[in-house]
Amino acid sequence: MEQSGRSIGSFSAPKMLVGVIDANESHRRQVAQALVSFYQVATYSTAADAVADLGKRPLCALLVDQSAPPRGGGDFVRLIRSGNLFAGVPIVFTGTGDENTLRHQAAECGADCFLAKPFRRSLLIRAISQQINKTVEKKWEALPAASRRALVGTMDVYNSFSDVVEKGEPVAYAQVLSACGPLVEAVGMQEHKEILASIRSHDNYSYAHSLGTATLLVLFGYAIGLKDPDLSLLGSGGLLHDIGKMSIPYDVLNKADPLTPEELTLVKSHVPLTLQFLGQSAELPKNLLVIAAEHHERLDGSGYPRGLKGSELNELSRMAAIVDVFCAMSERRVYRPAISAEAALSIMVEGMSSQLDQTLLALFREMLLDTGR
Ligand SMILES: [Fe+2]
Ligand SMILES: [Fe+2]
Repeated sequence: MEQSGRSIGSFSAPKMLVGVIDANESHRRQVAQALVSFYQVATYSTAADAVADLGKRPLCALLVDQSAPPRGGGDFVRLIRSGNLFAGVPIVFTGTGDENTLRHQAAECGADCFLAKPFRRSLLIRAISQQINKTVEKKWEALPAASRRALVGTMDVYNSFSDVVEKGEPVAYAQVLSACGPLVEAVGMQEHKEILASIRSHDNYSYAHSLGTATLLVLFGYAIGLKDPDLSLLGSGGLLHDIGKMSIPYDVLNKADPLTPEELTLVKSHVPLTLQFLGQSAELPKNLLVIAAEHHERLDGSGYPRGLKGSELNELSRMAAIVDVFCAMSERRVYRPAISAEAALSIMVEGMSSQLDQTLLALFREMLLDTGR
């Protein structure tokens, strides 16, 4: 969707590529099956095959088995680390036998972490995800100061939520606000593009979605003339709006196949879970709770959890719904690739005209065109 030579730019990211080197055919197949929903996977029986094929392709992580022919995975990883091959690509070392020996082998050859076979699918995905995020977060160091502070601050506070949720403690709003200050500042300096680009490859999808929502809500706020403290409230609301998802099993949130009715009910329960969690903190502004409570409500009453409609939904709920839908569509999911910004907006205009506030949506689209690359 283009207008007067302006373009919305890219918000989405393709699947990232993971290389797997393992002499054992059935293990290669198992790993590929485990990862295929999340990543593009290329498997090889020898290191030489991997080098020949992957040399020029942008890898996000490499799994090297200790038995990788011809001279073993340890030798191959040492070779990589002593030259320019796969520079900066995180390496997960896999193998059988005693865990301490494997840990030692991995550290000694320069791998970033190790996994002892047989490993669970969730452990494999978590290990790769952590390594990818380390690489992504390292790149933040080169960003302009405000964007860097926004990313690091919100990442820290978001990570702290998982402990807070687990212990049932209230959210410290002062911490959230201080993390959102640099976000409001960075968006005010038109650095939202840097922030959105920086989280595009981040593998913590909940964090990336929450910060993306926060960033675009703040940008939306600026576009309609809001000032602080309203802008900070939009940022905080975006960051906290799906926090209840932390209590929903990872396997359900990241299921590649269609959800069963029970699983769908479980996913939808993230709204009451979020409210229950946020309700423990007496200091949170009421409007922040509105964002969390009503971002899945729709003007025609088809939303959840309360099926509110029309005038029951204020401007804030309507903005939150637009930004949440746009961010979710623009993000890669295990069950579908990312949808381009233009296609997402077309769906929101043509397919959701009775559900989303079309006047605000037109403003949102104009804002993206004005600020797009
Ligand atoms: Fe949500
Ligand atoms: Fe959301």
